Formats: sequence, C-alpha cells, structure tokens
Amino acid sequence: MKKSLFIFSIVFTTACTATKLITPSQADADRGSQKFQGYSLSQLDQGKAIYESHCNKCHRYKVPQSRDETKWDMVIPKMAKKAKLNSSEEDLVLKYVVTMSTNPGKTK
Ligand code: HEC
Repeated sequence: MKKSLFIFSIVFTTACTATKLITPSQADADRGSQKFQGYSLSQLDQGKAIYESHCNKCHRYKVPQSRDETKWDMVIPKMAKKAKLNSSEEDLVLKYVVTMSTNPGKTK
C-alpha cells in the first residue's frame, strides 16, 4: 500500500505537475517554523516568488516535493550560484523548498 502510493506520487508529480507549484498555506509555515525559527507564511511566499522567477530559466521547475532536505541542502547552493541569487534570496529559496518538500497534500 505504502509502496504503491509512493510510486503513484512519483508518476503523478512528473506527469501532471512538472510546472505547478503548491500554494503555501499557514500549515506549511507552521511546519517550517519547527525547523526554521520564526519562519512565516510571508517568507514562504517570498521564497516561492524567487523560485518562480529564477529557477525555471534553464530547466523546468523541479517541484519541492521531488527532493528531500538533504538533497536540497546540496543542490540549492549550486543552483543559487547559477541563478545569481544573493545570500538572503538563497536562504528564502532553501527554506521554501525544504518546507514544501514535506507538504502532505497534492499539487494544486
Ligand atoms: C543558469 C542555468 C540554471 C539556473 C538559473 C538554475 N539551474 Fe538548476 N540546473 C541547471 C543545470 C545545467 C542542471 C543540470 C546539471 C547539474 O546538476 O549541475 C541543473 C539541475 C538542477 C537540479 C537537479 C540536480 C540534482 O542533482 O538532482 C535541481 C533540483 C535544480 N537544478 C534546481 C534549481 C533551482 C532550485 C534553481 C533556482 C535557485 C535553479 N535550478 C536554477 C541549470 C540552472
């Protein structure tokens, strides 16, 4: 059961939602603030906005749920350089993808 759900979610993510990003909710911000002290929905929205304007120039969006925190920690510094983000933009994007990578819902 768990395994088929997992496979379904991969197929779903790659087939239908390659360019769709979940709209962050307060629940996401609350979950994120357990990891990042003082994290707010407004910071989450800012991270998403930067992501949308900088992270699909060379390739399509890689949806946050496609990778876990460990992977994002490695990828973001590399991609932030490519996208020429400053350090506060990089920080917002990293927190955004890490927080949304554990969003339990479907993409909308
Ligand atoms: C200047 C072009 C460019 C920009 C801008 C860019 N990328 Fe990339 N990205 C690449 C290239 C080229 C690859 C594949 C080669 C590689 O991994 O270095 C890649 C690969 C990736 C991967 C897959 C890497 C892996 O190991 O799984 C992710 C995830 C990713 N990019 C995310 C992002 C994010 C997030 C941003 C915005 C901060 C971004 N990219 C901006 C060029 C870019």
